[in-house]
Amino acid sequence: MKNNISIFLALLTLCLAACQGKQGGTATDEIEQRVDSLLSQMTLEEKLGQMNQLSPWDMDELYERVRRGEVGSILNVTGADEVNRIQRIAVEESRLGIPLLVSRDVIHGYRTMFPIPLGQAATFNPLVVEQGARVAATEASADGIRWTFAPMIDIARDARWGRIAESLGEDPYLTSTLGVAMIKGFQGDSLTSPTSIAACAKHFVAYGAAEGGRDYNSTFIPERLLRNVYLPPFQAAAEAGCATFMTSFNDNDGVPSTANDFILRQVLRGEWKYRGMVVSDWTSIQEMVNHGFSANLKEASEQALKAGLDMDMVAEGFLKELPKSLEEGKASMEDIDNAVRNILRLKFRLGLFENPYVTTPQNVIYAPSHLAAAQEAAAQSAILLKNDASVLPLDSTHHLTIAVVGPMADAPHEQNGTWSFDAQKEHTVTPLKALREMYGENATILFEPALSHSRAKDAAGIQRAVALARKAEVVLAFIGEEAILSGEAHSLANIELQGMQQDLILALAATGKPVVTTVMAGRPLVLTAVEKASSALICAFQPGTMGGPALAQILFGAVNPSGKTPVTFPRMAGQTPIYYAQHNTGRPANETEMLLDSIPVEAGQTSIGCRSFYLDAGTKPLFPFGYGLSYTTYRYDNLRLSATEMGTDGDITVTCDVTNAGKMDGDEVVQLYIRDLVGSVTRPVKELKDFQRITLKAGETRTVTFQLPASKLAFWTRQLTHTTEPGEYQLWVGPNSTEGLMASFWVK
Ligand code: NOJ
Repeated sequence: MKNNISIFLALLTLCLAACQGKQGGTATDEIEQRVDSLLSQMTLEEKLGQMNQLSPWDMDELYERVRRGEVGSILNVTGADEVNRIQRIAVEESRLGIPLLVSRDVIHGYRTMFPIPLGQAATFNPLVVEQGARVAATEASADGIRWTFAPMIDIARDARWGRIAESLGEDPYLTSTLGVAMIKGFQGDSLTSPTSIAACAKHFVAYGAAEGGRDYNSTFIPERLLRNVYLPPFQAAAEAGCATFMTSFNDNDGVPSTANDFILRQVLRGEWKYRGMVVSDWTSIQEMVNHGFSANLKEASEQALKAGLDMDMVAEGFLKELPKSLEEGKASMEDIDNAVRNILRLKFRLGLFENPYVTTPQNVIYAPSHLAAAQEAAAQSAILLKNDASVLPLDSTHHLTIAVVGPMADAPHEQNGTWSFDAQKEHTVTPLKALREMYGENATILFEPALSHSRAKDAAGIQRAVALARKAEVVLAFIGEEAILSGEAHSLANIELQGMQQDLILALAATGKPVVTTVMAGRPLVLTAVEKASSALICAFQPGTMGGPALAQILFGAVNPSGKTPVTFPRMAGQTPIYYAQHNTGRPANETEMLLDSIPVEAGQTSIGCRSFYLDAGTKPLFPFGYGLSYTTYRYDNLRLSATEMGTDGDITVTCDVTNAGKMDGDEVVQLYIRDLVGSVTRPVKELKDFQRITLKAGETRTVTFQLPASKLAFWTRQLTHTTEPGEYQLWVGPNSTEGLMASFWVK
């Protein structure tokens, strides 16, 4: 009897797991039946058509091909009317009436632009990130888009890589948490809702580790590092039900991701039980020929199919080459059927068969609630990096004369950042505009861009700006990068400020007036000289449509800044890649560091420490990960652990009192880091394991509680098992990755 009950319970669990399996989404029996029934009616050409994604070059040709069933998905067709027109052809004029999956890169907003993902990551606020994706989904779906290629959850530790802008930063835990939030926002409560859009975890995998930070470059990430650092955000995405994955362009250790059966079959489908759909990146099947991995498109298509890829983004290899491969026995019908199943399942889950057309209201674009959410995101993402003598916030009660200068002060196109295909600069509010509108009565605002754009090298404007600064009590300088300087294919070897921007700040500082510098960029630029010259420094990455009002409120203290750096800011470009979770090395740097200028001439060979540092830059970054100031100050006291020992299946409760010791209400991001002191392989000196953004009134104390299960300490060990190793650990609770209260505990 007991046996029967356990068998019944085991079967029930299996059945529930099968029906609700989240990895890639809920697949009900009913949907599976519909998928199989449709599949059984399809010709080979129709199956391969479903696996083919096209971007339109010629609309008439595209209509014809949709009619013939040669297309399963399109990208870059937008607008309710146009999408409905082409969808009607698929549904009413193709033989089986299978609706198209309409996709677009909706990465950090559709019309209402949110801060670039790196800026969103600076909020350390999953709710804000989720809200941003929800707004984007609402606006994009009104224009017919039901699938986006986001979140981009590549770990990015090299600021030369232009796509760091699209990333959620350098840390696997932060990226996982915020990536999941974005997926929730895009997909909503149910994919079937007409305002839900399928998310896509990309780029699978290790793309962010492009050698030298040069986009599309090869990566050489060994399996352990892949599993410990690069895969966790993708696993979190799979577990959160992310509907699709995209393979990356890079070859890792010689194998292009698009045909990497280890990551696609063993890890994604095998270990993570992922049931969603996997698309290639743009022509990444074809590019395996360039990689020198495939002799031609036909072989590349066979390799990709065999590795477990479902949909071919625009290379047309699956459609055009696989019939021959099938005849020759170089491709299997089973693989094709499985790919088509994954595609059809998604279309059923999106409700496209019942609801193929855009019927959602058209007036959602720039809805006041969307603009408010974008402003809130921009406000929470601004990072106060320096505030000498409390130059900020500006006093709005005393009528100030303010010189607003710099090429980013009034550059609406640029402040929207990369992936702003659908942004409209006339709807974007710049800092200059916002300052004039919001504080124009409290202050006299003088304006001189000085440089026409971030790369401009004409020094004449600098003198005009200096003249203006002399008339003002404070200078607000807005510098950074144009949108085109980061993002895909926009890597830089020089990550210092472009053009004459640094000269501008130095010249302004030489006037003796306080210079408040705000940097809007797509990466953590090298700001060493600018930081020194400025009285206050804010990083706003590229803040999107409502960046202006958010920054104006911060500058005048209506909002207390609370963003934290999601990436380490290098002191010198040559420090890249630089990240906090580095390993200690056998010779970690210490106080014996002696920098270039202090080395005596003809010094003895070993007199400078024999430690791991750069003679010219030391080891320290300009700003560490997790760093950001506030107009108030926070005090951390009384770190307590519920136990100083736990088993490998145990749990410790960590509490810490955080006090707002200043005079202004504010938000603090309380961070928990650990260090595993001795491992079967060497371990990072610190790893973020949790964080909480809390709001504290001036004078208020809050006890912050973290649960730290031993399972959170697990990593891929020497034996490549995912294990929590016994031993001593250190733990910190603090305001960033370099400060905080410390305690130790043991796992036994
Ligand atoms: C190439 C990019 O790598 C990818 O991120 C994007 O989604 C596709 N192009 C589609 O535009």
